[in-house]
Formats: sequence, structure tokens, C-alpha cells
Amino acid sequence: MNRTPHVAVVGATGAVGIEMIQTLEKRRFPVGKLTLLASARSAGKKLKFQGADMPVGELKKDSFRGIDIALFSAGGSISKEFAPLAAQAGCVVIDNSSAFRMDDAVPLVIPEINAGDVKKHQGIIANPNCTTAVTLMALYPLHQAFGVRRIFASSYQAVSGTGAKAIEELERQVGEVVHGKPVTKEVYPHQIAFNVLPHVDSFLPGGYTKEEMKMENEGRKIMHQPAFRASVTCVRVPVYRAHSVAVSAEFERPVTVEAAREVLKKAPGLDVVDNPEAKEYPLPLHIAGRDNCAVGRLRKDCAMDNGLCFWVVGDQLLKGAALNAVQIAELLLK
Ligand SMILES: NC(=O)c1ccc[n+]([C@@H]2O[C@H](COP(=O)([O-])OP(=O)(O)OC[C@H]3O[C@@H](n4cnc5c(N)ncnc54)[C@H](OP(=O)(O)O)[C@@H]3O)[C@@H](O)[C@H]2O)c1
Repeated sequence: MNRTPHVAVVGATGAVGIEMIQTLEKRRFPVGKLTLLASARSAGKKLKFQGADMPVGELKKDSFRGIDIALFSAGGSISKEFAPLAAQAGCVVIDNSSAFRMDDAVPLVIPEINAGDVKKHQGIIANPNCTTAVTLMALYPLHQAFGVRRIFASSYQAVSGTGAKAIEELERQVGEVVHGKPVTKEVYPHQIAFNVLPHVDSFLPGGYTKEEMKMENEGRKIMHQPAFRASVTCVRVPVYRAHSVAVSAEFERPVTVEAAREVLKKAPGLDVVDNPEAKEYPLPLHIAGRDNCAVGRLRKDCAMDNGLCFWVVGDQLLKGAALNAVQIAELLLK
């Protein structure tokens, strides 16, 4: 791999794309050249990188000639069509969509957990689902110490997880409600302002949503733990940024709050914020814009043997998307 790679951001104008550009800059990734790509609608727009105005180009089949690393965040159908073309052109794709995550030939990587899997790539590496990534940042260190069997979890997912249009929808609906106007809906099937929606992604025949099943399927692959089970309810909440997840986890071995806290304190990319007496626990408002996830509300699960409850919060645009992707790109240069 070129030590100062030519990097492309596909979906550069989107909620994740913008964060990718900023994360490359913030982490001083040694970008030799940067190419920004989006749809024809955005061609000619300018986005800032290292103080310069960079033009956005239209994504085309021949966009990947000479590019070393392409960070994709333009949705699953774009990834399915263009990621194989990019890989054929000799570029390593780090893909944020769900298109290739469960493909056996594609590593699915959280660098703090399974960095070694990056080496097995054949041109495409997948970034995990954002809620799964945030949950595993706390669950995996506990798994290493106590051996996880299964979890029951509910997510509280920010609207920016749906993309730039959903951020506008929450803003617009708050204004409409406050000014007594009829509420307009474009992105979500129901009003999201002053409401919560127990519906993220599409429903599967068993009644879970696709988003809910990603925790078990992707969790198994990332933790190399094929027996891991997860029953999850994913909920969209009127929060702009950062996902929260309430988890009850059952382990093979007995777990105490003190032992769990010691494990979590040492976990990379994770802060322990757990002082309920002082009203201190992780909040999406505090975590938004931060690289580290945070865990708190640690307690023995009163309904399960060897069970522990915790509350984990992470900026899904960063650890759930842009930051994780740039960390994978950093591994490619090692
Ligand atoms: N948001 C999150 O927290 C998050 C987390 C993890 C993974 N992801 C995944 O990342 C991807 C992008 O999510 P997002 O939230 O950033 O969505 P978004 O804000 O809606 O942005 C979508 C991006 O894709 C581009 N795009 C759309 N159609 C295109 C086309 N035909 N050709 C080229 N580019 C096209 C858009 O360009 P224009 O501006 O030109 O339309 C825009 O840059 C999705 O696969 C999503 O599942 C998102």
C-alpha cells in the first residue's frame, strides 16, 4: 500500500461522508490526494479539506483509476454496483453499507476487536452496523473476561443514523409542532419530533427488523463467537446525534460489577461514566462529536444468573461509521 495513498470518499456530501473528510483531517491520515464523489446532483459542489475547497465529482464506473483506498458511504445499492468495480481497479474499499458485511470473503472489522481480520481482505472490507459497533465496544471486553452467551437490548437511535435528510426532518417537525402547523413527513413513516418509533429498517418475517438482527449476525462475525445470541428492539428517538443502547448480558462465568468496571476501564476507545449518585451516566448530548464511546449504569442483572446490565452510548457517525472506517484505513498502512 502506498504510504501516502490517494483516498476517495464516495458519498462525500452525506452525513457520514462529511464526517469521513473531517476524520481524515483530524487524525492526520497521510492523504496523498483526495477525491470526493457523490451523485450528479452534487457535482461541482465544494467541501473543505485541510483549509482548501475541494470539488465534488460525479461517481462513475471509471472513477477509481489510480485510487488506493475508497471510503464508501452512499448506500447499499451504490456499494453493490461500484465497490467491486473499485476493487477490480486495484483500490481497497472500506464500505459503510450492509451490502457485504455478511459475505465470507469480506472482513467485518472493529479495529479494537478484530484488527487482524483486515489482512484477509480481497479488495473490500466492511464497517459494521452503527448500533452493533457501539454495543460491542463495551460488550467485547466483557466477553473476553467472562464469556458472553446472549444479550437482550433496546436501542435509542439518533436521526442522523438515517442520514442528512432525517436531521432536516426532525428540525422541521420541531418547528412545525412549536408553531402549531401541520406536521409534514418525508423520511419516517410517523412523526419523529416529540415521539419514539419502534421501527428501524425493514421488518423480517419473524417480526424483528433487519437492524435488530444485525446485532446477532454481525456480533458473531466480529467477536468470532458463532454461538452469540441477541434479542434486540431498535427504536428511533428524536435525538440528533449519538446512539444509546440498554443491554442485559448473560455470561458463562460469574460477573461482579467491580470486576466488570475494572475490565471496562482498560478497554480501548471506551470511557466509564458511572456515578449515578452524582447523576453521572453517558448521555448522547455529551458523547456527540467524541471519538470514544461511554458506558455506565453498571449493575447486576436481577433477572438472570451471571447477568450484567449496562448503558452504552457512542457517536454513530464516528465510531459507528467514519472513525471506524478511517481506523481501518490506518491498519492498511501498518
Ligand atoms: N448515518 C449513519 O450514522 C450511518 C452509520 C453507519 C453506516 N451508515 C451507512 O452509510 C451510508 C450513507 O449514510 P448517510 O447517513 O451518510 O446518508 P446520506 O446523508 O443520505 O448521504 C448519502 C450520500 O450518498 C450519495 N449518493 C446518493 N445517491 C448516489 C448516487 N446515485 N451516486 C453517488 N452518490 C450517491 C449522496 O450524494 P448526493 O448528496 O449527491 O445525493 C450522499 O453523499 C448508508 O449506507 C448508511 O447505511 C450510516
